[in-house]
Amino acid sequence: MSINFSEETGGEIITTTASLPEDYNEGSLRPRTITEYIGQEKAKNNLEIFIRAAKLRNEPLDHVLLHGPPGLGKTTLAAVIANEMGVNMRITSGPAIEKPGDLVAMLTNLNEGDILFVDEIHRLNRAYEEILYPAMEDYAIDIILGKGPSANSLHLDLPHFTLIGATTRSGQLTAPLRDRFGVTLRLELYTPEELQRIVTRSAGILGVDIEADGAYEIASRSRGTPRIANRLLRRVRDFAQVKANGIITKEVADEALSSLEVDKLGLDAIDRRMLRSIIEYYGGGPVGLDTLAATINEEAVTLEDVYEPYLLQKGFLTRTPRGRCVTRKAYEHLGIAYMGQQQMEL
Ligand code: ADE
Repeated sequence: MSINFSEETGGEIITTTASLPEDYNEGSLRPRTITEYIGQEKAKNNLEIFIRAAKLRNEPLDHVLLHGPPGLGKTTLAAVIANEMGVNMRITSGPAIEKPGDLVAMLTNLNEGDILFVDEIHRLNRAYEEILYPAMEDYAIDIILGKGPSANSLHLDLPHFTLIGATTRSGQLTAPLRDRFGVTLRLELYTPEELQRIVTRSAGILGVDIEADGAYEIASRSRGTPRIANRLLRRVRDFAQVKANGIITKEVADEALSSLEVDKLGLDAIDRRMLRSIIEYYGGGPVGLDTLAATINEEAVTLEDVYEPYLLQKGFLTRTPRGRCVTRKAYEHLGIAYMGQQQMEL
């Protein structure tokens, strides 16, 4: 995803879920074990059982598909799984695999039990997917050498490995690929309470003094996303050091976040534009996603994957068969008078 630029600040939006250069040391904050990993209880409970069972049988873990909005820790969770299984993890991504040889090289370089993590797996070239089918099912690949009548096929056995695929769009995976994952886990947006625990843990690692309601203030303005929460924590820490006595209180967090134009609920310029456009141009909805995307000059997939999940979680937006509608709560948040849902004149 590209970085968004805000017309309000003229800079990049601090609440983007995309990875920013300043997140370079995100790694130091990442949990390494399931116990350290906060939130995603459903996914974690299932994983714990699968990991234990695989270890008891002395087998690699079944292939895992992780899906959900960006920034929720899919890579982190994959690394936790590798750590809990006591194996190595190799990382690649759908768009990074430019030719079949890239994928064959990754697969043949794995060791027994290793994890191959393929981020954005929905962007893997469809033609190369077919290499993955026998690799996932039979731990083998067939390579065709040469062309025409003199072509030969070479059968290569692979070590028993686990493929962990991550995607923001599981609907875009082909059915044959999706069906080859034994475990599918959906990651959900984090609650403010879970993010508060993540912020508190991160502050501990960074050696920052933070009060409980200071952590909650950051958490509740982080769009349900740990990547954003950790980024905001660093910015608020700078603010606390320069303008206060280094301690992050609720007041310091509020002042810092307000000056960074992060609104009370963490909405950014695009969230607000999306809601306002539905109100101003479509009488509050319903409006189709593509129409809305064209109106505000954003890609429909970005609206659906990045913006909608949080607006739905907050109850600002609803999805109906006829399109998206904003709720009364959204009018109130934006300070626009609510006069009941108006139907669009067609
Ligand atoms: N840092 C980022 N994501 C985290 C999580 N789920 N638990 C703990 N720390 C995190």
